[in-house]
Amino acid sequence: MQVVQLLNENDTLNLGSKLMEILTKGDVLAITGDLGAGKTTLARGMIQSELGNIEVPSPTYTLVQIYDMKNFELWHCDMYRLEYPEDAHELGLFDAFEDAVCVIEWPEKLGSLLPKNIYNIYLKFDDNGRLAYLEGFEKNL
Ligand SMILES: Nc1ncnc2c1ncn2[C@@H]1O[C@H](COP(=O)(O)OP(=O)(O)OP(=O)(O)O)[C@@H](O)[C@H]1O
Ligand SMILES: [Mg+2]
Repeated sequence: MQVVQLLNENDTLNLGSKLMEILTKGDVLAITGDLGAGKTTLARGMIQSELGNIEVPSPTYTLVQIYDMKNFELWHCDMYRLEYPEDAHELGLFDAFEDAVCVIEWPEKLGSLLPKNIYNIYLKFDDNGRLAYLEGFEKNL
């Protein structure tokens, strides 16, 4: 598993920007990490790298926020408040897994409904900033 050191918020945003060069329609990226680990920041880096300095709020209450990127829709999902995995059906998430790029915070809330062949990033607190553990990526980031 590849480990990337993220010394500050800007490093997290930059990693997001690099991810946008890799992800294509139909990809799912699960971002796992404790409260405040930087999941939303990473998603923000992805979105802002294409759309500029727009507001990218945490979708904690809406659960999903959809962005029109150049080549696909990007679904920024925060499953923290999802009560049951099955509740994701009414969000349209399972179609989006095929038709969009889905970036999912708190993916563990989807339980066994989370697709299997996906990219995973695990964010951990470190003495200096964060460490990102990358799984499923072919090339180094
Ligand atoms: N590499 C980093 N080093 C230090 N601070 C960081 C780093 N990346 C992000 N942060 C900061 O961590 C804080 C929390 O970030 P963020 O909201 O993205 O976390 P989160 O994982 O989405 O939290 P939640 O679990 O509430 O959704 C922000 O203030 C952000 O600037
Ligand atoms: Mg968040």
